[in-house]
Amino acid sequence: MQVLVTGGAGYIGSHTVLSLLENNYDVIVYDNLTNSSLESIKRVEKLTSKKVKFVEGDICDKEKLSQLFKQSDIDAVIHFAALKAVGESAEIPLRYYQNNVHGTVCILEVMQQYQVHNFIFSSSATVYGEENDVPYVETMKLGSPSSPYGASKVMVERILADLALSDNKFRGVSLRYFNPIGAHESGEIGEDPKGIPNNLLPYIAQVAVGKRDKLSVFGEDFPTKDGSCERDYLHVMDLAQGHVAALDWLDRHSEFNGVEAFNLGTGNGVSVFAIVQAFEKAINKAIPFEVSPRRAGDLSAFWANASKANKELNWHANRSLEQMMTDTWRWQSNNPNGFLD
Ligand code: NAD
Ligand code: WQD
Repeated sequence: MQVLVTGGAGYIGSHTVLSLLENNYDVIVYDNLTNSSLESIKRVEKLTSKKVKFVEGDICDKEKLSQLFKQSDIDAVIHFAALKAVGESAEIPLRYYQNNVHGTVCILEVMQQYQVHNFIFSSSATVYGEENDVPYVETMKLGSPSSPYGASKVMVERILADLALSDNKFRGVSLRYFNPIGAHESGEIGEDPKGIPNNLLPYIAQVAVGKRDKLSVFGEDFPTKDGSCERDYLHVMDLAQGHVAALDWLDRHSEFNGVEAFNLGTGNGVSVFAIVQAFEKAINKAIPFEVSPRRAGDLSAFWANASKANKELNWHANRSLEQMMTDTWRWQSNNPNGFLD
């Protein structure tokens, strides 16, 4: 079975490509490298001793995509390619809608043209918005996320639902990721943000390696146990295996058409202070931090009800918080400058 992975050179994409190769899928990566490096794919090839076909291209370039579909026998698409910086999406919303929404429509159109029906979409816990209570469960209505980034994910989920209503061959899976962290246990691939990291773990890791002075903890007056926000952090390799489980689910459900959503998380909320402590324990060193005002748009706490993925995909986020920290540190300390090293 051959899988086209858009955005496969990125953080979650590269770990998923590795899992796919380990499960004997053939993989084509299609990425414009706006937020990644080809080095990630080279390292995946080294780790698996397998070849990955790489095509540099943009998901909005329908002509290039068409050529690729014409030349290759593609059975399924896993669609990671998107811009993902929440704050930036409020500054340049049109770029986000163009890339994340229009780009997805382009890939879906080309799939339809070449009669490729299996589609796995990188959705996010952000689609539950502010309206829903925790833990989030897939039967809840889609919410109204505060950022254009989050809105782009809701829009794509709606587009998939409409497409499924109109095309009875379409077989879509929306995987709603909670907070992926960590790195492959080899320390060879991991998250390599450009510039100042927006997300918690890459920031802590850069403080630990001496690239940044201290962490700002955004708020300690939330209605949580210790006052800092709580999130459902899961290991990126568990998340990667969730994609293999979703392909397997599509394969086992040959009669299925429509779109099905699955939460991918551990089911536990962990606070920012608890993350700092866990990281300190893993590296046996203090992480300097200061408490700063809340960051705009941050919800106090959310985590997944992951029962549906546990039961139907036969998938569990098994790796511990300790392993998430140790693997983040192995990647960061071996590659202080990311893939430039
Ligand atoms: P990433 O930025 O590391 O990977 C995205 C990849 O897509 C990059 O390699 C980038 O170069 C590529 N890309 C972007 N726009 C493209 C385009 N127009 N054409 C071709 N390639 C393009 O991000 P990630 O963390 O690996 O996220 C992957 C997906 O998962 C995204 O859709 C993201 O929104 C979603 N997601 C991420 C998180 C998270 O916390 N990282 C959580 C929920 C959902
Ligand atoms: C985690 C916690 C911050 C940085 C984002 C997107 C979400 C999804 C995952 C894609 C929060 C706190 C952070 C820092 C801090 N992405 N924090 N200091 O915001 O839960 O989710 O990534 O879909 O849509 O919104 O993740 O890692 O940015 O923050 O105190 O320097 O860490 O306030 O409570 P978030 P995050």
